[in-house]
Amino acid sequence: MAILWNEQDKTLTLHTKHTSYQMKVDKLGILLHTYYGSSIQGDTSYAIVCQDRGFSGNPYDAENDRTYSMDVLPQEYPCHGSGDYRTTALSVTDHNNVSGCDLRYVGHTIQSGKYSLPNLPAVYAEEKNAQTLIVTLRDAWLNLQVELYYGVLEDTDTITRAAVIKNCGEQTVTLNSAYSSSVDFLNGKYDLLHFHGRHGAERTKERTHIDHGMFSIGSRRGTSSHQHNPFVILSRSETVEQFGECWGFSLLYSGSFSCVAEQDQMNQTRLLLGVQPERFNYTLCPQESFVAPEVAMIYSEQGFETLSHRYHELIRSHVCRGSYQFSRRPILINNWEATYFDFDGEKLIKIAKQASELGVEMMVLDDGWFGSRNSDNSGLGDWWVNEEKMQGSMKEVSEKINALGMKFGLWIEPEMVNEDSDLYRAHPDWAFTIPGKKPVRSRNQLVLDFSRKEVVDHILDSICKVLDNANVAYIKMDMNRSINDVCTAAQGMPSEGKILYQYVLGVYSFMERLLQRYPDLLLEGCSGGGGRFDAGMLYYCPQIWCSDNTDAIARLHIQYGTSFGYPISAVGSHVSTVPNHQTGRVVDFNTRGIVAMPGSFGYELDLNLISAEEKEQVKQQVENYKKYWHLLHNGRYYRLTDCEQDSEKAVWMFAAKDGSEALVQVVTCNTNCNSPIEYFRCRGLQPDAVYCEQESGKEYYGSTLMNVGLPVRTISGEYKAYQLHFVRK
Ligand code: GLA
Repeated sequence: MAILWNEQDKTLTLHTKHTSYQMKVDKLGILLHTYYGSSIQGDTSYAIVCQDRGFSGNPYDAENDRTYSMDVLPQEYPCHGSGDYRTTALSVTDHNNVSGCDLRYVGHTIQSGKYSLPNLPAVYAEEKNAQTLIVTLRDAWLNLQVELYYGVLEDTDTITRAAVIKNCGEQTVTLNSAYSSSVDFLNGKYDLLHFHGRHGAERTKERTHIDHGMFSIGSRRGTSSHQHNPFVILSRSETVEQFGECWGFSLLYSGSFSCVAEQDQMNQTRLLLGVQPERFNYTLCPQESFVAPEVAMIYSEQGFETLSHRYHELIRSHVCRGSYQFSRRPILINNWEATYFDFDGEKLIKIAKQASELGVEMMVLDDGWFGSRNSDNSGLGDWWVNEEKMQGSMKEVSEKINALGMKFGLWIEPEMVNEDSDLYRAHPDWAFTIPGKKPVRSRNQLVLDFSRKEVVDHILDSICKVLDNANVAYIKMDMNRSINDVCTAAQGMPSEGKILYQYVLGVYSFMERLLQRYPDLLLEGCSGGGGRFDAGMLYYCPQIWCSDNTDAIARLHIQYGTSFGYPISAVGSHVSTVPNHQTGRVVDFNTRGIVAMPGSFGYELDLNLISAEEKEQVKQQVENYKKYWHLLHNGRYYRLTDCEQDSEKAVWMFAAKDGSEALVQVVTCNTNCNSPIEYFRCRGLQPDAVYCEQESGKEYYGSTLMNVGLPVRTISGEYKAYQLHFVRK
């Protein structure tokens, strides 16, 4: 049993293979959080020491016990107004604008299987492989019910959390904040690993020590954003790649979010993750509920490497879905960087033809095929095929591509509208604008109000008309600006937070309905590259375009950071031209291929324009990808260097789970005269097995490769790359 209730101690303990998580109903009915970490047994609440702490409030029913204070007690779902002056998970205001909440335990149920959430992504599992705990708490004064959901997947060491907050009273209440998870740590020094960035430089790893006070990251942009990612790791200060304790928190939500790490007056640390509370003000009418999206928590007792392995497994096997979940994705060519908006049907076929001759399997037609979309100033919203530009119908174009032996894919950006479009002229009120006020533009476009069903219905219908009339195997779904001027015509005047939350649900319903209608469609997420790269999107799209920055050296950092919380199979990664369009850097074709390979591989250039020698390299890369994809997607991924610390080289590897083979990929980042030799040490091999390196035929023991390591080849010139394929004898 993964979930245990001890009636005597009033403890609820959740066990995974290597982890325990414990809470306890105390004498006042408060749900305390007593432990999260390596497997333990028994009631751990003895570790909580209560003392009289000045200026820390005591609940009335603690009577004269001045040592009992919510201000210092570790809790499962701390509330504002309870005497806890730290950042709290829940803050509620009643219809008179009086705030305060006091949640007490009512009961709990334990069920087999993993719960799901209405209209939101959630981790899933076979019924026999998961259990659910629902703890019900109630505030008697507000008549507010909170159900805390816990899902336990023993084998993948995962504990999920979500909360459903229901107004059971007769007046409205307003949620000022409603985090999905809050975890208190009684003692210890902690760091927060978070993944910050900007457009073209997403998910750069940064490690911040949590001192007294609050450290917070998040997004106010309506999407999870390029700037911060809703995946974070809290670690002990001494934790490194292969050693030490760390706790991962991954929010399955693609909108504005907040993560707060706070060290309090008693040196305790609290970590909260959930929907962004700023301007949230989510009003609940009587009987209305708010569902706080899911957080998938994973603990590792062996450093970041093990934590990443567990997340990779979780997301691949229990978040991603569909026919491409485990199968090899077609190697694609995308015309965006080859043509931008400057193409016609003939040019596309020429690009596709050359690519197909070199072994590429799918042609993706990016932005510019619809309406009056000849620049990024017009046409968004008009999802009808520009047959003049395409020199034929989409059916004809797709048939020509199919005749080359290739699949065909299309780009869409359903959530957007240009003011210069038929859609905007017909329905100006469908875009987020504040009546009488000029909206903030970005990329010259406005955001459609996807919190309204009629808007989602219209866009979905018009895109389906295109898909019904062509053989489309793949969709790249883009989202190219942050949201502003949040105001809706449909539902009176809900708060910005409520509209933005319902907007995200609208986006999810769009994708869900699209996938139900075309179950074999491969959906790739995108938001100006990786501006919406989160576990919520991965429930619908098994891969996401990782960044608009296709420079192989910049990608080393972006893909390195991404690997901490997301599987390699989720990373959209392409070979593009040089000088690179984003950075101007010139990198070998070989290096570009090796860096793009750990992901869902493809090309983003006109292959007619490369040299004969490079064309031969394309053929080889295509073959290599087919040969190695099972290792790349199903093997264990090891970071052998830290991209943010090591400026000389970037080395990573994939090892088959059964130890039978491995692929090491090496990029040299610096060139010097008479430089010292660099080394790397392999991981994940069988120590006693002998491995043969396929190119040189040299043989090594696994123990040797893992302990002595290998010297990095000295190659003249900057940004060289090579790979080593080891096969067990
Ligand atoms: C975004 C995407 C790009 C491309 C353009 C098209 O920036 O990330 O890959 O599709 O939009 O406008």
